[in-house]
Amino acid sequence: MSRRFEKLKNKFPYYNDVFDTEERIDLIMRELKLFDKFRLLSGRRFSRWFSKPILRLRIPSFGMTDGSNGVAFHSSFRKNTKFPNSKCLSSTWNRELAKEYGIAIAKEVRASKRHVLLAPGINIDRTPMNGRTFEYFSEDPYLTREIGSPFVEGIQSQRIGACLKHFVANNQETNRFSINSQVDERALQEIYLRGFRDIVLRSNPWLIMGSYNKINGVRGCAHKALLRDTLMNKWGYNGCVITDWFATRGITQPEDCIKAGLSLEMPKPITYKTNQLRKAYKQGKFTMEELDDLVRRLLRVMFYVGLFDDPESIPPGERNTPKIQRVARRIAEEGIILLKNENDILPLDIDRVKTIAILGPNKNKRFGKLLYGGSAAVISPYEITPEVGLKKKLEGKVEFTEDRMIADYCIVFVGLDHSRGKDCEGIDRNNFELPKDQIKLIKETVNINPNTIVVLLNGSPVPMIQWIDNIPAIVEAWYPGMEGGLAIADVLFGDINPSGKLPITFPKELTDSPAHKSVKTFPGDGENVRYEEGLFVGYRYFDQQQIEPQFPFGFGLSYTTFEYSNLKLANNLISKGRPVSISIDITNTGQRAGSEIVQLYISANESPIIRPPKELKSFTKAHLEPGQTKTVELQVSLSDLIYYDSRIHNWTYGLGTYTVRVGSSSRDIKFETLVACKP
Ligand code: BGC
Repeated sequence: MSRRFEKLKNKFPYYNDVFDTEERIDLIMRELKLFDKFRLLSGRRFSRWFSKPILRLRIPSFGMTDGSNGVAFHSSFRKNTKFPNSKCLSSTWNRELAKEYGIAIAKEVRASKRHVLLAPGINIDRTPMNGRTFEYFSEDPYLTREIGSPFVEGIQSQRIGACLKHFVANNQETNRFSINSQVDERALQEIYLRGFRDIVLRSNPWLIMGSYNKINGVRGCAHKALLRDTLMNKWGYNGCVITDWFATRGITQPEDCIKAGLSLEMPKPITYKTNQLRKAYKQGKFTMEELDDLVRRLLRVMFYVGLFDDPESIPPGERNTPKIQRVARRIAEEGIILLKNENDILPLDIDRVKTIAILGPNKNKRFGKLLYGGSAAVISPYEITPEVGLKKKLEGKVEFTEDRMIADYCIVFVGLDHSRGKDCEGIDRNNFELPKDQIKLIKETVNINPNTIVVLLNGSPVPMIQWIDNIPAIVEAWYPGMEGGLAIADVLFGDINPSGKLPITFPKELTDSPAHKSVKTFPGDGENVRYEEGLFVGYRYFDQQQIEPQFPFGFGLSYTTFEYSNLKLANNLISKGRPVSISIDITNTGQRAGSEIVQLYISANESPIIRPPKELKSFTKAHLEPGQTKTVELQVSLSDLIYYDSRIHNWTYGLGTYTVRVGSSSRDIKFETLVACKP
């Protein structure tokens, strides 16, 4: 223990960890004057990423940084590992890897001298046109939770705070500061809030960020019914709610935010200006008890991140180490999805291929530029683009040509790129189609050379209807991070057998997508956007309307084949504390080792109210050597069967029978069976 810390401990008893956190908070609260409390409620005016300190009491400030794909440059002022984007992570369907990612990124937050990571973003993909789709996990709340929870746990295991954002129904960038999301109570609970609820209950993220938008007429950061009544009172959340940056602009009464439970206004006082707070307090607009609760929540974060502990006891940071870069590479390797592979054109054989042509605007593009894509932009010390990755792998073995006619294979790298309107915060996508010149390039290339492979680098679905039929192989690589080029080369040449599966439906046309029925449903009339599709978001909608997507939720191919057999039910009655276990044998029937993501969906057969045709409730990932069989187990418990009943404003579960479907995607069901739910 350093001398400095020893001194602090002697002078300020809350530096002493013989007391538990709540006792230490009590000790601070005793010292705080009214103006100290007001002061703590907002960020430091000239330093956009820090809370305010109280020097007299040695209460330090804590630092935050953005980052859904790494620690962002604009808020950390350091070059850090650029991880694959969130869609790539959720495409791995790998919970352990999500946790490893959380640990790795938290180490970089610590090394950047920050204490809180403003991630993960877990808004549900309502439309592929949302400029921030690339930052979010999925259209499905269950997958969102299964990736989001371990990610949060990984971050917080390093005593760095995770901040779940943006609470809630923040599903578009058009008019993002003012739009009113009109969403019915059940859809709000079952689709948009469900991921927040489950991650709060399981993993207790220390912070939650209120959103810019209104939800049914009330601003996200002043939404008492959702923040105070639901998040805090119903779910028992004891963490800290902070604003999105400047999200309180236009809220004139500080008591609206105080009563809602907002602890920290960022980046500077707007509504929580001391004179406004003092006036409102004097007029009895809020109580000392309400104020104290907000301050306690904020202090809790400071204790959790270790601000009052011996620095030597805090997990150390590290940055850009080979170990962390290896995590980034593994996410890319597991998150890349093979979408099409006619006649097994892939993987390419390094010993047989003589010449390849590498084409397309994304073959050598670096995606990590300042604010490129918005606050999530990470600038890394290097970024291995697909072309560089392929050249590293193939140098001396394969020739590169620009002549598409003589190449054995043409690999075309297209997609989006985080520029305005193409996967970027602050503005929704300006076109669902790929840019015209890219479509032209794909069509022209395959006309010249039928061995054309399309690799997409993008963070949200693009349509393929204009060219898919003629292209034998398509790979979705997302934004694969600073090691991405190596992972792509390994997938194309078979050193990695792709195993990623889609966390979002790829529609054939935008009008097939649930939010695109009229201007009112997206992007709204300027004031309101109506979530008329209700519950039926993503595959729930495609199933209900029986629309054939381009690629369904949960879809992804492999270089090997898997056979499903022998579905067994240990019991078929679900009741409280008694889940059902379903086992199934998976055999690798091909020539290569590979991993299969086995998915379980349920459907309610006798429900008093309408339910989605199918909902993901369990999955597991199995790695199999050629010829190997593994028995995998999946469980369904009572909490998987609940739905939200707006008549009683609460969750309930339906009795009766449920069909359980097990398969390799939401549209490739191999087996189904019945289970019953009894009280
Ligand atoms: C974004 C947040 C981000 C914040 C701080 C806002 O514009 O919506 O996601 O965390 O800025 O950079």
